[in-house]
Amino acid sequence: MDHADGCYVWDSDGKKYLDAMAGLWCVNAGYGRKSIAEAVYAQMQKLPYSPLTQSHGPAAALATRLAGLLPKGLDRVFFTNSGSEAVETALKMARQCARQLHPGESRYKIIARHRAYHGFTMGAVSATGQTARKRAFEPLVPGFLHVAPPDRLRCNFCAGSQACTLTCADEFERMIRMEGPESVAAVIVEPVIGGGGVFPAPEGYLERLRQICDRYRVLLILDEVITGFGRTGTLFAFEQAGIQPDILVLAKGITSGYLPLGATVASDRVFEAFLSDKNGAAKFTHLSTFGGHPCSCAAALANLDILCGERLWENAAAVGSELRARLREIDDPRIGEVRGRGLLNGIELVSGAGDKTPLPEAEVVQIQKRIRANGVLVGRNSDTVPAFGNVLTIAPPLIVSESQAHDIVDAVRAALAH
Ligand SMILES: Cc1ncc(COP(=O)(O)O)c(C=O)c1O
Repeated sequence: MDHADGCYVWDSDGKKYLDAMAGLWCVNAGYGRKSIAEAVYAQMQKLPYSPLTQSHGPAAALATRLAGLLPKGLDRVFFTNSGSEAVETALKMARQCARQLHPGESRYKIIARHRAYHGFTMGAVSATGQTARKRAFEPLVPGFLHVAPPDRLRCNFCAGSQACTLTCADEFERMIRMEGPESVAAVIVEPVIGGGGVFPAPEGYLERLRQICDRYRVLLILDEVITGFGRTGTLFAFEQAGIQPDILVLAKGITSGYLPLGATVASDRVFEAFLSDKNGAAKFTHLSTFGGHPCSCAAALANLDILCGERLWENAAAVGSELRARLREIDDPRIGEVRGRGLLNGIELVSGAGDKTPLPEAEVVQIQKRIRANGVLVGRNSDTVPAFGNVLTIAPPLIVSESQAHDIVDAVRAALAH
């Protein structure tokens, strides 16, 4: 790719594409935002680097800004360079916190879900529930367990019932009881599984999970690396469930991808478990040279001015609904399900009407290529679970207009009709 503006990118041959993946689910504010570039340029000249072993203005301002956007009691921020590092930080924080909150117990296990993606570092990939992204590096970090994701189309518990029974959420409780609560530190979930094939938490799921975690004194980590910063129709996806995580993981949309940055936000309860005792043994010994880089924080602050000033989550909610409604109108038996929240959407392709067999990956790739030839970039859940690379993903910048959403639908329809 050569250059970009708004929702469009141009390749080095000059061909223009509507970027219906916002890069990698991250350019929430859209391309060409001069205020972000100017803020970074100014910061480069003022203080291009300073470590967070002391503190600096942009990181302090950004932490304060995030605290103001998040519910009270969820406002202690640790900055990193990426989503993977922010997840890694959350996992380490959870294990140490569990030790400090429950002396005498051995709480180290982390329960995640199949099909979830949490990053490329050893802890984050151990939490990931996608064999194709793991098997080359096994054995992974001990203590990671997985339960079934919410998958209405193929649910082993209730695909045949009228409504979701939330048994997939109850699976966390079953796992905690089977393993012994005194061995479990945390649960980690994405409110909407993104790269794994777009599986939104059904209504009531996150609430149920919060109750289960409280019942067994297990920490709830929400990975909002994709869902954060407006993508699902609210600034953070957890707001829709009316619950709060113990640890929140953020990245991607925090700078709209203009510079690398991740953040792990701890609740007061977690933070307080680390307040140094006399020997300092309780402190979080975790350090990053570039995490919270002043220029990345300056980019994030300018980006948040845009996201909040333009209330882009509202556009995500409205255009996202329109996009899903139009995609559902496409008359093609290979569309097994269109699902999503806001501007985080997936089209699951199957072999035919009433046949849930995943459409072979080679055919899905051809469809994706034809959509690209039609001038629209969509994603796919590649390298996740063997034989299930059959979900096309659509997550454009949050500034996308209704007519651009129609262009995306037209490109998909034409590619399927080919
Ligand atoms: C939900 C989720 N968590 C973590 C990550 C890892 O983020 P990064 O690629 O910035 O390391 C990703 C990346 O796509 C993600 O989707």
